[in-house]
Amino acid sequence: MSANKASQAKAASEPGRGRAQGLRTRHPGDLSPEETVARVLRVDHAGEYGARRIYEGQMAVLGRGAAAGSIARMYDEELRHLDHFEKLMVARRVRPTALQPFWHVAGFALGAATALLGERAAMACTVAVEEVIDEHYGGQLEILGEDEAELKATLEEFRADEREHRATGLKHGAEAAPAYEVLRATIKSGSRLAIWLSERI
Ligand SMILES: [Fe+2]
Ligand SMILES: [Fe+2]
Repeated sequence: MSANKASQAKAASEPGRGRAQGLRTRHPGDLSPEETVARVLRVDHAGEYGARRIYEGQMAVLGRGAAAGSIARMYDEELRHLDHFEKLMVARRVRPTALQPFWHVAGFALGAATALLGERAAMACTVAVEEVIDEHYGGQLEILGEDEAELKATLEEFRADEREHRATGLKHGAEAAPAYEVLRATIKSGSRLAIWLSERI
């Protein structure tokens, strides 16, 4: 078994991991450290942009609902994450993904559509997306070297925020949303695909 196959098998054997971690399952020789960082920043910026648009879609529908305060707080944190990645991309001369227009439309649509199903469905969307982001950041933390300690510390910090967002979603009744498991699985698959594409395009 090649080293690549072995690492793929290892990733696949860890529950809930592997599929969204195209970076982690690549052969170590495929990308230079600079290319790896560029890819990390590009996809993370795209993801935080998508998160901003999801919460904007939710707020457009649920702006006066019971969870409006919680949504607004999570939104503020996404803006902080996004701003940080924007600055890093400029500093390190990394171009944004060509899929930015997709994230703009799809993020808002996902947020608004789930919010139209109700507050708990919006929270189910938050839980699903944040679970994918959590595993995504976890995969990046494993592939980045010690020479990227500052970036890794940022990812650790943001990852903790995303886990908080997931907990907020659960606190607001995500699991009681209609067809919760189908909704969650569907959104997770779509988010993983969007991440995979944004790492590459
Ligand atoms: Fe975020
Ligand atoms: Fe988040």
